[in-house]
Amino acid sequence: MFIKDLAKQKDQFSDASSSAEATVDKKAMADKEVTLKGWVYNFRSSGKIFFLQLRDGTGFIQCILSKSEVSEKKWIEAQTIVLETSIELTGRVVEHPKQPGVFELQVTDFKLYQVPVEEYPIGKKDHGPEFLLDNRHLWLRSKRQWAIQRVRDEVIRATYDFFHKENFIKIDSPILTPNACEGTTTLFGVDYFDLGRAYLSQSGQLYIEAAIMAHGRVFDFGPTFRAEKSKTRRHLTEFWMMDAEMAFCDHKCNMIMQENLISFIVKRVLDNCQNELKILERDVSRLEKIKAPFGRMTHTEAVKKLQALGSKITVKDDLGAEDETLLTENSDVPIFVEKWPKGIKAFYMKRDPVDDNLVLGSDLIATEGHGEIIGGSQREDDYEILKQRIIDEKLPFKEFEWYLDLRKYGSVPHSGFGYGLERLVGWISGIHHIRETIPFPRMINRLKP
Ligand code: 4AD
Ligand code: MG
Repeated sequence: MFIKDLAKQKDQFSDASSSAEATVDKKAMADKEVTLKGWVYNFRSSGKIFFLQLRDGTGFIQCILSKSEVSEKKWIEAQTIVLETSIELTGRVVEHPKQPGVFELQVTDFKLYQVPVEEYPIGKKDHGPEFLLDNRHLWLRSKRQWAIQRVRDEVIRATYDFFHKENFIKIDSPILTPNACEGTTTLFGVDYFDLGRAYLSQSGQLYIEAAIMAHGRVFDFGPTFRAEKSKTRRHLTEFWMMDAEMAFCDHKCNMIMQENLISFIVKRVLDNCQNELKILERDVSRLEKIKAPFGRMTHTEAVKKLQALGSKITVKDDLGAEDETLLTENSDVPIFVEKWPKGIKAFYMKRDPVDDNLVLGSDLIATEGHGEIIGGSQREDDYEILKQRIIDEKLPFKEFEWYLDLRKYGSVPHSGFGYGLERLVGWISGIHHIRETIPFPRMINRLKP
């Protein structure tokens, strides 16, 4: 039995509370004996009663061990319990006397797996972030960290479900690559046998562009790497990216798919992670407003607006973190900033037919200061223009021949986008620094544990 399933039983019980069977259900539930296995998350004792907070992986429950309910030997054994003792508890599920709908376990028996000899390093006192990050292998057990990973899992599941519903298939792109996808300044290189240098993928985009010519709509999902020197709350050197790509889809169609995906994910988290969001003290009323359509403004409009708000940004610049925060300050929904100057965007983005200095790319900026969560664009599908871009950017032409081939054999208008999983989870969970959203963060100054 798992704590999560106890909650389900409880829900069934409360749904049926107006029916004739309710009293029978309540009794059956109260008398039911269950066994739970997990770890002692917290405990306190008051003379003849021991209160244990049990974490079984799926949730948390208070377990009450009374001296009168167990043998003398067991009672003495119970006194040895410390934080993170691994344990099996058997008992009856009862409703909390003062909090209707909250269930507890009245323990009748228990078995200890291991009682830690050394004191658990993460205690009740406040620890600094460096200490917690050094102890990430243990910190993962803390309630907030537990909740963040459950939200992350729900975001991943919702992503797969959304794309399969929309006729995408998953295509796995390689991690070791001979070339750069997102500019050459943030590449991690490794020696690759007799073939020279290989680079860790910055995004699977170029590869899934090849796959859409076979499958129409595809997505990938995997670790990506950026040797970013940025030490900000939004940058990791290893993070997870989901790239999606669609044949016969233009820039507008691309943004519609993005807002539908994000709305779907947020709703799924609201539906399935209420408990987690409560632990995280997330203002769910903000999340409830995240519904398509999202806002849209051009880069030129964004710059004007920001200048009016006091920013020093010019029409040639990328948005800084503060600009992103300012831009969505009074918006309930994320905002697409579209049609960027070509000089500050990647070589593969398609030119705007209306203004040759712009590209048909968009960044999706989240609300509440969480910044850019998605980058996307319509792709250049013209062989000659793309070739010229590769030459102008001084990219190694040989390594991009295969990519150019896609514009030779049945080229089609196509678009795609990529989200950064940690930024998305950080926004939905309301976490300030994205290092908490990945199980084992990698940053310029951190490679351990
Ligand atoms: O905007 P980016 O660089 O776009 C691409 O890589 C495209 N090839 C995606 C595509 O069109 N298929 O990165 C996509 C997203 C960003 O919006 C951001 O959320 C996240 O990846 N991201 C990072 N997350 C954490 N740490 C970093 N250093 C990140 N760099 C980008
Ligand atoms: Mg970007």
